[in-house]
Order: sequence, then C-alpha cells, then structure tokens
Amino acid sequence: MDIKEKIKQIEEQIENTVKEIKSSRTAQEIKMKFLGKSGEISSLMKNMRDVPPEERPNMGKLLNALRQWTEERFDKLESGLKTIELAKRYADEKIDVTMPGQVAPDGAYHPTTLVTRELIDIFLGMGFEIFEGPEIENDYYNFTALNTPKDHPARDMQDTFYLAENLLLRTQTSSGQIRVMENKKPPIKILSPGKVYRSDDDATHSPMFSQLEMLVVDKGLTLCDLQGMLDEFVKKIFGREVKTRLRPSYFPFTEPSVEVDVSCFECGGKGCRLCKGTGWIELGGAGMVNRRVLAGCGIDPDEYTGFAFGLGIERIAMFKYGINNIKLLYEGDTRFLKQFKG
Ligand code: DAH
Repeated sequence: MDIKEKIKQIEEQIENTVKEIKSSRTAQEIKMKFLGKSGEISSLMKNMRDVPPEERPNMGKLLNALRQWTEERFDKLESGLKTIELAKRYADEKIDVTMPGQVAPDGAYHPTTLVTRELIDIFLGMGFEIFEGPEIENDYYNFTALNTPKDHPARDMQDTFYLAENLLLRTQTSSGQIRVMENKKPPIKILSPGKVYRSDDDATHSPMFSQLEMLVVDKGLTLCDLQGMLDEFVKKIFGREVKTRLRPSYFPFTEPSVEVDVSCFECGGKGCRLCKGTGWIELGGAGMVNRRVLAGCGIDPDEYTGFAFGLGIERIAMFKYGINNIKLLYEGDTRFLKQFKG
C-alpha cells in the first residue's frame, strides 16, 4: 500500500479512537499503542529499511510528521480530559463549611470523683496532707497493727478478700494510718482517700468502694478537737445548719470510739424517708487513736494523742445526689453519669 495512504488510514483510525476515549488514563494507554516501541507508527518506521534509499528522506519526513501529529493529538486530548477530571474531583470533594459540625459529647466527672474532690478540698483547706496507701495490703497493716490480731472478733465486721495467707485487698483505708505513723513523727495531719474491698453486695454495699480516712496526731489532742473538726467539716460539705452527734461505738484501733451522725440535711432533723424517721444520718466512724496503735508505731502514747475518722465516699455521693442504688455508681451507664457536671 502507498505510504501516504497508510498514513491517512492511521490518522483516521486515531481520530475515530480519540472520540471514544473518556479518561486521561485511557488516552495515555492508547497513545502507547500507536507510539510505543511495538506501536503501529514505530513498526512503520522500522520498515524504512526495506524502502529504496532515494525514497527514504521523503518517507522519513512523512512518518516524523505523523508521529508528531499523533503525539500532539493525544497530549491535547489528555490535558483536556485531565482538566475535566480535576474539576469533577473538586466538585466531589467540596466541603460545605457552613454545615453544623459533629460535636463530641462533653465528658462529665464521676459523682464519686466529684465528692472525693470536694471532701479533699475541705481538708486541704484545714492543712491536711494526702497519703495514698496500697490497695493490696498485708495482714499486719490492715488488721494486726490496728489492734485487730488474728482471731479478734472485730475481723468479722469486715468480710475480707484474701489473696494469700498474709496478703489481702485492704478492707479499710485505716491501714494508711499505720504506714504514715511508722514513717512520720508527730505532728501528723493526713488524709487518705482510696478504694477498699469487702465481700459485701446489696443495694447500699459494693465489693469495692471508696473511703476517706483522716488522722491527726499531736500533743494534747482530745475528743473535743475531733468533734470541733468534724463540726467544721460537716458544715462545709452539707451546709451551715447541719449539726453533728457522736454516739459511743467500738473500733479496735480507737478508744474511745464513736459513730458520727449528722442531722438530716433533707428534713432538718424532723424525720423523713432519707433519715428513716430518726432525724440523723450516719456519716462514719471515728475516735481517739488507741494507745496500743500509737505505741506499735513507735509513738509514745503518754506524750502524744491522736484522733481518726473514716467515711464511705459513695455513701456521701448517694446522699448528696439522691442515688438509691450504689451499683449505679459502677455500671458506667452514660445516661446516668452525664447528669453530673463538676
Ligand atoms: N475503718 C473503719 C471501717 O472501715 C472506719 C473507721 C472507724 C475509721 C473509726 C477511723 C476510725 O479512722 O477512727 O469501718
């Protein structure tokens, strides 16, 4: 076939194919079909060898022109398609900056955290320091040093989780009293918040709960100092009108021991459902540190006296927020938790 005719045929073929091409990528691929090493135009060029020498220059010109034309034709097509593709991508990825954003829900402090902080804050204002003891304790700190040796009936007051013969989950933050007194000379004024564990489980008891322990040791302290401090503390947390009452009780590590009651902050002492008609609400245990406990920690009980106080934090949270089941505090249900804002 005449070379000119062949060239024309290829040009037509290209024009026809070009019409069908819809993407810059295909344009690139098809371009290679004509111009690539084994492409149609390249094979025509290879055929030059068989052409008589005198026709070669002319034919070379024609083929070069064809190659250039093809290249331009495809480049133009490709860049046109690229412009369209880019415009489409921008349109697809368009962001409406005026749309309302997705707001991450606000977190809220856990009621136990809120109450713990409030309690700590009051005591810090009175000059207390914080001591946090370990939750895994040995028998000595949790019981024996607190004047509760093995076989002491008071051990039955707290159903204990034992990890080994001598190792347990502390049943009371009172264990922290011993750790502090062993290491610090009076005057001592510490506050020890933390988790405690007991095999106890109903609407008002949980196997894990939190306590706050307070300990003061100095010269000349009496039960009046304890009462004075409790009065102040109770007024700060429940309100100025709330009164305290100390009732005789028993704890092995205090002598005398008392139960601390506060006048009902719901009914003002008249008697209601919250205080079960008594006008008083039990807050925690307290007392003067037993001489034997002081002596066991190397503190001379003839020189120093001390008082201590311990309360359950969840109990306070339940009173404060009107929560009737302690389990609500551990279930992590956000419908419940989001009601509390610090
Ligand atoms: N540790 C006692 C308990 O868990 C509470 C307690 C009573 C703490 C008297 C004290 C205290 O510091 O003096 O039942």
